[in-house]
Amino acid sequence: MAPDAFHSPALCREAVDALVTDAEGCYVDGTVGGGGHTEAVCMRLRGTGRVICLDADEDALTAARDRLQPFAERTLFLHMNFSELTTALRTAGITHVHGVLLDLGVSSHQLDAPERGFSFRGDERLDMRLDRRQMTTAWDLVNTADVDVLSRIFLEFGEERHARRIARRIAGARPVNTTGELRIIVERTVGGQHLTKTLARIFQALRIAVNRELEALSGALAQAVPLLLPGGRLVVIAYHSLEDRIVKSAFRAETAAGTEPQNPFARGPAPEGRLRLVTRKPVTPSDEELARNPRARSAKMRVAERTDVGTEHT
Ligand SMILES: C[S@@+](CC[C@H](N)C(=O)[O-])C[C@H]1O[C@@H](n2cnc3c(N)ncnc32)[C@H](O)[C@@H]1O
Repeated sequence: MAPDAFHSPALCREAVDALVTDAEGCYVDGTVGGGGHTEAVCMRLRGTGRVICLDADEDALTAARDRLQPFAERTLFLHMNFSELTTALRTAGITHVHGVLLDLGVSSHQLDAPERGFSFRGDERLDMRLDRRQMTTAWDLVNTADVDVLSRIFLEFGEERHARRIARRIAGARPVNTTGELRIIVERTVGGQHLTKTLARIFQALRIAVNRELEALSGALAQAVPLLLPGGRLVVIAYHSLEDRIVKSAFRAETAAGTEPQNPFARGPAPEGRLRLVTRKPVTPSDEELARNPRARSAKMRVAERTDVGTEHT
């Protein structure tokens, strides 16, 4: 497979520029996918430079391992969820790292692979698991969750205003076995207007729920901060507003602004937090990148740097 056929990495140069502060450092790619970002990181490394590569999806690890063969000495692959970041580093025998990269969501390969059941464009069994060791699939949610739970999923994770109507229609049509059957139910419920956007929201919502994506993200961000060395960077690329909001507020909570005392009469600068923002506004792809890779269109990258507050490893 051509290197970028699996997945073309979004904001690659920008992410690697932000992440690699020490060519001999140790980095974590929590979402190695097809290995595009990690390959670009490895090309910047020298001497003791290493990358610990995680992915919840075994197919991704296989593809990444293949692509990163020339950097076998620098890479370690672990089939783990990034919500287990602390355990992953412990497994690798590492206490602190120079940077953590999270490029969220799914890869092009996952979206396009028929048997994964992520896309509303095909007609495949509803699956959507990133990690196929996991028991719960999209089929389970669609066919067993009650209407309240389903409509909350569509509302909270898809921000879909027809959430309850769609949930009721699904419950009335069970069993719903395939992505195509689900698409037809949504089509019949909301009609032709803005159909593609509605389908995208419904499928995104199910995927987020099946993989508990937002909980995993919050957990990984909380774990990453104490694992970073002072000056180390946390680089996160989000693809929808729910993810980006979590990143933004987690970063803010760890910066000086987030730790500012509530007392309005307090004088002097706010105490420094454990993070300092490197990007005040999210970085988005250039027109040139979008022309080459339209799937990067919703990418938003935020970067924060570890201060030496609360570290004993300065
Ligand atoms: C956008 S792709 C990453 C692409 C990668 N940066 C590249 O250059 O090819 C997202 C990847 O993250 C993985 N992923 C998503 N959530 C995860 C999680 N909580 N833990 C581990 N991997 C996750 C997906 O399986 C997918 O392979």
